[in-house]
Amino acid sequence: MTQEITLRRPDDWHLHLRDGAMLQGVLPETARHFARAIIMPNLVPPVVTGAQAAQYRDRILAALPEGASFQPLMTLYLTESTDAEDVAAAHASGLVKAVKLYPAGATTNSHGGVHDVDKVMPVLEKMAQIGLPLCVHGEVTDPQVDIFDREAVFIDTVLDPLRRRLPSLRVVMEHITTQDGADYARDGGPNLGATITTHHLIINRNHMLVGGIKPHYYCLPVAKREKHRLALRAAATSGAGRYFLGTDSAPHVDALKEHACGCAGCFTATNTMALLAHVFEEDGALDRLEDFASLNGPAFYGLPANEACIRLVKHDSPQHWPEKIFTEAGPVTVFNPGYPVHWSVEA
Ligand code: DOR
Ligand code: ZN
Repeated sequence: MTQEITLRRPDDWHLHLRDGAMLQGVLPETARHFARAIIMPNLVPPVVTGAQAAQYRDRILAALPEGASFQPLMTLYLTESTDAEDVAAAHASGLVKAVKLYPAGATTNSHGGVHDVDKVMPVLEKMAQIGLPLCVHGEVTDPQVDIFDREAVFIDTVLDPLRRRLPSLRVVMEHITTQDGADYARDGGPNLGATITTHHLIINRNHMLVGGIKPHYYCLPVAKREKHRLALRAAATSGAGRYFLGTDSAPHVDALKEHACGCAGCFTATNTMALLAHVFEEDGALDRLEDFASLNGPAFYGLPANEACIRLVKHDSPQHWPEKIFTEAGPVTVFNPGYPVHWSVEA
């Protein structure tokens, strides 16, 4: 029996589009289903100033397929020399919707990020004053801290002290991967939100490591043990306003994923909505998918929900999407959940 649901068009509150040939190749995958996305600034070189964000926005708009309606929501990459006045001006003009804090060395192209939060306090104080959200990659980089503990340690030693120091700062915990992250977001009050990726609702660390290493399941923060995946599922499917979809769809060409030192990132732009329908149906929460994918994010960012809708249909037979997207930069493997999915997005 076919089943279907209609949702307001979703937004992606955490997306990597890259630049040049990769941008050209992957942007249609997101623009097909999503109305807006928060665009990550970790290009090489990173998007640090308002002027750089304006240029990047124009390159994204120029790469859009004809007839597509998609709005990139730009972010700035926070560095220890970021100018608070430049940030404020980029926000006042409507260009920039958030600033991204990468602890230096935490992930792809983060070496220009923040070593010492004290050094960026003037920028954060300005952001708190003007209501501009800070998106945080929440992992410590201390080599002494085990990679599976880095999120929990970040919450205790960096995030919580920062939020106590500056309670009026609006913060988004990006791509939470642990029960600790879900609990901290739940208890954090109205100035705290959290994005959750599609892939962290589907895989745990066994999926990545048992029976051979699966480089296309390697991302950062790395997938954790099953109890954490279940905590994320409970959070996302609860409908609670502080959790919203940020796919962290992060394309890397296959040659750099299937590599002795493979890049972090799962590419889910193509099939995220079908996968989420599967996940929410499995948890008896299809009626809350719209909260997670289409309503909670705009509410946190103070933007209207989209007026247009998409239709998700469940078919009798498993649905298929391309195994790879062939960009001019090289092939990019689409995330494979490892089980049949009967849902698709219908035009
Ligand atoms: O898996 C990831 N890939 N996590 C990140 O934080 C960055 C991203 C990327 O840019 O490739
Ligand atoms: Zn990311």
